[in-house]
Amino acid sequence: MSNDFPLRPFLPSDTMALRDLFAQSIDELTGDDYDDDQRLAWAATAEDAVAFAKRLGDMTTLVVTIDGEYLGFASLKANDHFDMLFVSPHYAGEGVGSALADAIERLAEARGAETISVDASETAATFFEARGYEPQSRNSIPIDDQWLSNTTMTKRFKPKTVAGSDGTMPRPGQSGPRQS
Ligand SMILES: CC(C)(COP(=O)(O)OP(=O)(O)OC[C@H]1O[C@@H](n2cnc3c(N)ncnc32)[C@H](O)[C@@H]1OP(=O)(O)O)[C@@H](O)C(=O)NCCC(=O)NCCS
Repeated sequence: MSNDFPLRPFLPSDTMALRDLFAQSIDELTGDDYDDDQRLAWAATAEDAVAFAKRLGDMTTLVVTIDGEYLGFASLKANDHFDMLFVSPHYAGEGVGSALADAIERLAEARGAETISVDASETAATFFEARGYEPQSRNSIPIDDQWLSNTTMTKRFKPKTVAGSDGTMPRPGQSGPRQS
């Protein structure tokens, strides 16, 4: 699987295309887990384009586009919450979700987070589990007159190796060849 997808930050001009991608992704990829009414209610959370643009812009949102076509997007909220991950149904199963998740996790780690959480859809729970996320709680989220279930999952990042602790870097005082 290739993780070689071009990622860039969200721009306000992406809003309408990402709104369409969000609705298509929900409609076509989550049908085994949520019924028609639930999927419609979920997709309608992006109906207000101004509010959707603000939501994406308030977080760190990464977008994958190739030749003007939108393949997917993902958002990191408050440095340690994986808020959104949606892939176009035309590109599902091709590694776009993994590339976005890798980037979001790297960003969270770089900003000092020790763990990252996600409220994973029923559809995505297996995807996140395979990435090392562990289930913490089951939730029922009201959207309009529908209830949608998801699972809060967290992943703990591996502690960084301190330079010198593995014996591969010289310790202070041993930093180079001795002067004779
Ligand atoms: C979940 C989602 C983001 C995965 O994106 P993707 O680009 O298809 O994922 P990838 O191609 O990177 O797949 C990575 C691995 O996860 C597996 N996988 C992907 N989607 C899966 C799913 N729905 N169920 C189980 N496994 C899945 C792939 O088979 C692949 O496994 P492999 O490494 O053994 O080959 C995408 O299916 C999606 O947008 N779903 C609908 C929206 C949604 O529920 N988003 C999550 C909100 S929290």
